[in-house]
Amino acid sequence: MSHEVLHRHRAVWEQKPVLRQLYADWYRAMAAWLVSGPTVELGGGTGNLKEHLPEAYCTDVVVLPWLNLVADGQRLPFRSESLANLVLFDCLHHIENVALFFDEAQRTLRVDGRIVIMDPYLSWLSWPVYRWFHPEPVDYRDDPLYPKPPQTGRRPFDANQAVATILFERNQAGFEVRYPGFSIRHMRRMACAAYPLSGGFDHPSLLPQWLLTPMLRLEHQLERWGRFLAFRMLVVIERRV
Ligand SMILES: C[S@@+](CC[C@H](N)C(=O)[O-])C[C@H]1O[C@@H](n2cnc3c(N)ncnc32)[C@H](O)[C@@H]1O
Repeated sequence: MSHEVLHRHRAVWEQKPVLRQLYADWYRAMAAWLVSGPTVELGGGTGNLKEHLPEAYCTDVVVLPWLNLVADGQRLPFRSESLANLVLFDCLHHIENVALFFDEAQRTLRVDGRIVIMDPYLSWLSWPVYRWFHPEPVDYRDDPLYPKPPQTGRRPFDANQAVATILFERNQAGFEVRYPGFSIRHMRRMACAAYPLSGGFDHPSLLPQWLLTPMLRLEHQLERWGRFLAFRMLVVIERRV
């Protein structure tokens, strides 16, 4: 199932320039926060990051021929303090035990290393869209850092779209207490209607290519109202000690 979805998404990626341009904007925003040194992507899925960051070592929990390695974010196959960056694009909210991932990030990142996360953000505008028009659930009652017993039959695409909003907005203090060795360097609520209008990977685009550049310019200007309008959250976490 996950294989089929990711192979289909890869084919859509090839055929949809509007999607590639949109992601290019987001990948640039993430790349600007990377420090020099070994960079590993978790949940690489369709493998699109490689086009923008060829030096990244791209991994996923699913076996995919275009990625470098199979790796579960909860048990990273890397030596302690060996990595400069961990990049997660739309991956954090799919990880079953998020605390295991942050424990592993703490172990594998060198001091000054970074976790760069792009994940769904629940604003006033995006919440109803994610809640009613997106197949993945939104569960605000979840405590992402509370250990969950492993679920039998859990699939890589099982998710809670509220994870980043809970961790880095609603209960940021909880994250900071649990991980005093990390500091949240940057948090940006961004992206608005362009992605839903693009149809993403599952629907035809309602957004003509010529409209995308002015639309992205407008979205950047609207970021000051991110709490109300944003669909995504960019979070940069640095290992301090
Ligand atoms: C929504 S896809 C995102 C794929 C790609 N980053 C993109 O933006 O197109 C989420 C990915 O996270 C992966 N994933 C789920 N659980 C994971 C885990 N525990 N560790 C690493 N990757 C995981 C899934 O297999 C899937 O490829």
